[in-house]
Amino acid sequence: MEKRLRIQDIEKYYGNKSNMTKAINHISFDVNDGEYVSIMGASGSGKSTLLNCISTIDRVTSGHIFLNNVDITKLKGKRLNQLRREEIGFIFQDFNLLDTLTAFENIALALTIQKVNYKDIDRRVHDIASALGIDQVLQKYPYELSGGQKQRVACARAMVTKPSLILADEPTGALDSRSARMLLECLEVLNEQLNATILMVTHDAFTASYSQRVIFIKDGQIFNEIKKGDKTRKQFFNEIMDIQTLLGGELNEDI
Ligand SMILES: Nc1ncnc2c1ncn2[C@@H]1O[C@H](COP(=O)(O)OP(=O)(O)O)[C@@H](O)[C@H]1O
Ligand SMILES: [Mg+2]
Repeated sequence: MEKRLRIQDIEKYYGNKSNMTKAINHISFDVNDGEYVSIMGASGSGKSTLLNCISTIDRVTSGHIFLNNVDITKLKGKRLNQLRREEIGFIFQDFNLLDTLTAFENIALALTIQKVNYKDIDRRVHDIASALGIDQVLQKYPYELSGGQKQRVACARAMVTKPSLILADEPTGALDSRSARMLLECLEVLNEQLNATILMVTHDAFTASYSQRVIFIKDGQIFNEIKKGDKTRKQFFNEIMDIQTLLGGELNEDI
């Protein structure tokens, strides 16, 4: 299977020689085309640092990150901006919708910036909105939307450019369990129906159980990795919980 993302022996240090944190200490893994992967680990284990290096918000100290066989640790200037705008879709914890734009305009924004013609924008926004069941609310402003609708608008916005990779850092972290479930169902639609490749950071076993593979990190290194395979989500959830226990139960310390 084609590798969408290849993380090759990356390190990330913060600070200086006398006071150094190895936030990432030699991590390597691949994500396949169309795969849905979770990264789990205790608070401070390096999850956000890892995601920020992949999203190019932060730079690795050493190692390589290939997205579609392009080493994104080497990109600068215009090509870096283009990568962020066109190849990576973000789902933020607080959704970050712009209050003064309608749902349609929020979803369309990235395409408008890319100067895609209006007819194509209209078609792409409507296609994705209907897949996510929000075609009836496209003319509403964020304050007129329910929490679940806002989530779906945020998912549609992340997906509308057909990015190579969707990144989400603790997407359910601030949600009650019902809203969390709705967001996870939304990500499932992106993955299963729209073939999105998703990499999500979470410390929540329930959230991780929606993905196809979970990579556990501890102290900046990969500790273990498990696949859902033919298991039910409940069985996968139990397996994730078992590894959390093995890791010392410390994963949940900051819930
Ligand atoms: N900008 C930074 N400067 C210095 N240390 C940092 C910075 N960001 C993260 N760290 C440190 O790197 C380690 C990993 O942090 P982080 O990736 O945020 O973990 P997680 O997301 O798993 O909670 C922690 O020890 C944290 O204190
Ligand atoms: Mg974090």
